Amino acid sequence: MTQPDKARIKIFDTTLRDGEQSPGATMTHDEKLEIASMLDEMGVDVIEAGFPIASEGDFAAVKAIAEQTERATICGLARANVRDIDRCWEAVRHARHPRIHTFIGTSPLHRAIPNLTTDEMADRIHDTVTHARDLCEDVQWSPMDATRTEWDYLARVVEIAIRAGATTINIPDTVGYTAPVESADLIRRLIAEVPGAGDVVFATHCHNDLGMATANALAAVEGGARQIECTINGLGERAGNTALEEVVMALKVRGDILPFATGVDTRKIMAISRRVAAVSGFPVQFNKAIVGKNAFAHESGIHQDGMLKNPENFEIMRPEDVGLSATTLTMGKHSGRAALRSKLSDLGFEVADNQLADVFVRFKALADRKKEVYDDDLIALMQVEERTAEDRIKVGSLRVVCGTEGPQQASLTLSIDGQDASADATGDGPVDAAFNAVKALVDHGARLQLYQVSAVTEGTDAQATVTVRMEEAGRIVTGQSADTDTVVASVKAYVNALNRLMMRRGKVSGDLPEVSYKDAG
Ligand code: KIV
Ligand code: ZN
Repeated sequence: MTQPDKARIKIFDTTLRDGEQSPGATMTHDEKLEIASMLDEMGVDVIEAGFPIASEGDFAAVKAIAEQTERATICGLARANVRDIDRCWEAVRHARHPRIHTFIGTSPLHRAIPNLTTDEMADRIHDTVTHARDLCEDVQWSPMDATRTEWDYLARVVEIAIRAGATTINIPDTVGYTAPVESADLIRRLIAEVPGAGDVVFATHCHNDLGMATANALAAVEGGARQIECTINGLGERAGNTALEEVVMALKVRGDILPFATGVDTRKIMAISRRVAAVSGFPVQFNKAIVGKNAFAHESGIHQDGMLKNPENFEIMRPEDVGLSATTLTMGKHSGRAALRSKLSDLGFEVADNQLADVFVRFKALADRKKEVYDDDLIALMQVEERTAEDRIKVGSLRVVCGTEGPQQASLTLSIDGQDASADATGDGPVDAAFNAVKALVDHGARLQLYQVSAVTEGTDAQATVTVRMEEAGRIVTGQSADTDTVVASVKAYVNALNRLMMRRGKVSGDLPEVSYKDAG
């Protein structure tokens, strides 16, 4: 895939660490393993698999990913202390190519958190990078909030990290503050002025608070960075991280002015984008570059006419280049199992025989209610199937009375650990009534933070996708579901969030504290 005349850029994917850290984006152990295997297959160079000291669950996921991964380097995150670094090494050392990534906040604001003087912090960096390098040959070091760190201090600590044995120096724009010219200059200047800089790889790690993450990452590459840190769909805290699909496609499409190559098979982009959206519960915005639903849709008359004459009139890349099949109209109620399986496989879902039987029943039910079943309908159906497979609480039946003559009422039956339980409730509208019925059956203190509905396809018989985000004692979870009945989809999404909450409660480890990467030091 790499073209010989182009400099090779390493793609470092942090969907499972910085992306998963996004409030509400928690993934299960199996989902993390699945995403890691898709990343490996698509040709990502480094997978940051998690933050091993954060919890037993994080540790187990990083270790399992290290053990299963065939090709990519597996990296774990560690704060600047021996305990974090040792725990990280325990998890990644099983990998064919392990890496320890250790970091500390170096800007004035971040230096104040561990309350270290600049000299004390410099010593800490020396000691921790040396310790990491004693354990592992491949050590990445990051001065968190580098773009708001004084130049002299940044240059000083980068030199210390290089002397202590770091092999990659990552320059994070932690709060998405920098701009392209500055991003390029900073890397260029570090490479030119820091002794030993020529012996290490410089990486760029950008956040998207001002919408400049992709531009900043590409500018850093022009300044000399040879590793881009990014996430699928730009998943990440606040406005997210640099989106993998954007930088990879920008380098591919604009090779004329950006003579750099990656090892990523771009045809695998859509499948992983959909999986990450499904397992994280963070839907992709319709007009998102590369992977948004509208990214290749040409609705207006002028565009359609131009497209028919020559697709290059309006398309700078072909849908197939990112793994999007040309057809969207898929199946009807007469389609059989073999056709369904083959269609699902085109969409990136490989289903075993026993799963196919279940999916087929649900597909037939959907086809009975909906005239046309599109790709997006099947994707929504599969995502619901996978999100709810292990749920302890399941929706049995729901009947709702609504309309202009109140009160709105809901009668609900849930199956909780295999036992049926029913309740009636009223509310301010059908969704409120149905949610009150759930609360009557499942006592919880979680607060509803977000309730969002969107149509999967066009038409009044379209399925609604509902996303629900809930918070309980600082734990944030996202639930999702889809159905042609919006109230049913809402209750299923709400119940899915409650199931995830129960899983999160069980995730907190015994002897290791749940930690945040912001408590650096
Ligand atoms: O944004 C950031 O600074 C980070 C570091 C831990 C590298 O994610
Ligand atoms: Zn980050």
